[in-house]
Amino acid sequence: MASQHEKKPHAVCIPVPLQGHINPMLKLAKILHSKGFDITFVNTEFNHQRLLRSQGPGGLNGLPSFRFETIPDGLPPPENKDATQDLPSLAKSVDETCSGPFKSLVNKVGAFYSPVTCIVSDMLMCFTLDVAKELDIPEFLFWTSGTGSLICYDQYPNLLEKGLMPLKDPSFLVNGYLDTVIDCIPGMSGIRLKDIPPFIRMIYPDDEYMAQFLISQVNRAKTASAIIFNTFNDLEPDVLDTLSSVFPPCYGIGPLHLLENSIEDNSLASIKSNLWKEESECLTWLDSQAPVSVIYVNFGSIAVMTKQQLVEFCWGVANSNYPFLWIIRPDLVVGDSAMLPPDFVTGTSGRGLLVGWCPQEKVLNHPSIGGFLTHSGWNSTLESISSGVPMICWPFFADQQVNCWLSCNKWGVAMEIDNDVKRDEVGKLVVELMNGEKGNALRNNATKWKKKAEAACVANDGSSVANLEKLVHHMQTSSN
Ligand code: UDX
Repeated sequence: MASQHEKKPHAVCIPVPLQGHINPMLKLAKILHSKGFDITFVNTEFNHQRLLRSQGPGGLNGLPSFRFETIPDGLPPPENKDATQDLPSLAKSVDETCSGPFKSLVNKVGAFYSPVTCIVSDMLMCFTLDVAKELDIPEFLFWTSGTGSLICYDQYPNLLEKGLMPLKDPSFLVNGYLDTVIDCIPGMSGIRLKDIPPFIRMIYPDDEYMAQFLISQVNRAKTASAIIFNTFNDLEPDVLDTLSSVFPPCYGIGPLHLLENSIEDNSLASIKSNLWKEESECLTWLDSQAPVSVIYVNFGSIAVMTKQQLVEFCWGVANSNYPFLWIIRPDLVVGDSAMLPPDFVTGTSGRGLLVGWCPQEKVLNHPSIGGFLTHSGWNSTLESISSGVPMICWPFFADQQVNCWLSCNKWGVAMEIDNDVKRDEVGKLVVELMNGEKGNALRNNATKWKKKAEAACVANDGSSVANLEKLVHHMQTSSN
C-alpha cells in the first residue's frame, strides 16, 4: 500500500473538535493537498457522526490522498447529539485522553498509506507535541484565531506581575473598573481590561481551568517547528512582528477561505465542515432583497444567551425596520430551545427570515447584506472583513472581546453593543450601521479591508500566498 505515495509529504491535520476550529483546519488541509500533500484529517468520533448527519453519508468521501480518520474525545455520549459540547469538559478530556489514540493513529496511517512527514495541529491541542516528539515528526501548530488574542495570553505573566490580573471576583465588574486602559501589551495600545479574553481575567472560579489550560498551551507551543495564523500581514503587522520574536517562525496565510477559493481543480470542494445542516435556501430569499438592505444576525457555534437577551435582540432588530436574516441554532438559548416571542414572529413575517444554520461565507458575500450583528468569533470577523461588511459586535467569550476591540478600534469596521443588551440600543445601532453616517464610514473601511485581504491572496505577490510558499517549503524540508 505504501509504495504509490512514498515520495509525497504526508500531513496529519488535527483540529480542536469545535466548529470554529474545524472550519479553518479543513481549509488549511485542502490548501496543503493542492500543494501536493497527502492528508489525513482527524476528527473526534462524536464530530464525525455529526458531520455525517449534517452532510449525508457521502459528505465525507475524500480522495485516496485525502482521508478522514477518527479518535474518541474521551467523554461519555451527551444527551443532545447535535449541540456544542461543554467546553472545559471537552478541553480537559481531550488533553488528558487523546494522546494514546492519536499516537496509534499516526503510526497506523504512516504504515498503511505513507510515512507521516508532519503533524499540523491546532495550538490548543498541544498534547500532540509529545506524540510528534516521540515519533520524531516535525509539528506545525495552527493558531486559528487572530494574533491579538494570542499576545494577550502570552502576556499573562506580565499582567500578573503588574497586578492587573487575575481580577478575582465579580466586584471588579462594577464602577467601570473594566474600562481601565492597559498599556503593557505590545501592539495593543488602548486595549481595556474588558477586552482581554475573559478566561484570563479569571473573575469566576470556572475560568480557572480554562485560563491555566490556555496559558500552558501557549507556552508549550514555543517548541513547535512553526506557527500558522489565519490572518494576513496588513491586518495585524505589529503583533505578528512581536510574536515572531518570541515564537517559532510565524506564517500569516489568511484569509484561508480566499486561498481555498483560488485552488484550481478543487476536487475536494464538495467536502464541507458544517456540524449543523446547512439551509442554503436562504440565499434565494436574499436574492429577493434590495442591495445593502439586510442585517445578518449570527452568533456562531458556541455562544449561548438568556431568554431575556434573545427577546431584547428580537425587538431591537424588529424595531429597526430593516429586513433581516437571523441564524438561530437550536442550542442558542441557555437551557431551552430558542423560543422566539410569537408577536415577533408574526409581526416580522415577510421582512425577516429565521434559519438554523447557513452558508455564511456566501451570505456575507451576497449583495443584499448591509451589516452583520455578530459575536465576533475570529472566523466570522475575518469573513466579514473580507466581504466588506461592517459589524455590530456582541462579544461573548474567549478571543471575541479582543476581536471586537480590534474591529472597532484598529480596523474601524464595527460598533460594539453593551453586554447588558437592550432593545433600544440594538434598534439604534442597526439603523446607524445600515444607513447612518458612522455606518457608512465603517462600510467604506470594510471595503478597503476587503481589497487588502484579496491582495494578500493574489498569486505571485500577495503576502499570504508568499507566506504559504515559505510554509510549504519549511514543511517539506523539515522532515528530511
Ligand atoms: C469558536 C470561538 O467561539 C471563536 O471565538 C473562535 O474565534 C473560533 O472558535 P465560533 O463561536 O463558532 O468559533 O465562531 P466563528 O469563529 O465565527 O466560527 C464560526 C464558523 O462557522 C465560521 O466559519 C462561519 O462561517 C461558520 N458558520 C457559522 C456557518 O457556516 N454558518 C452559520 O450559520 C454559522
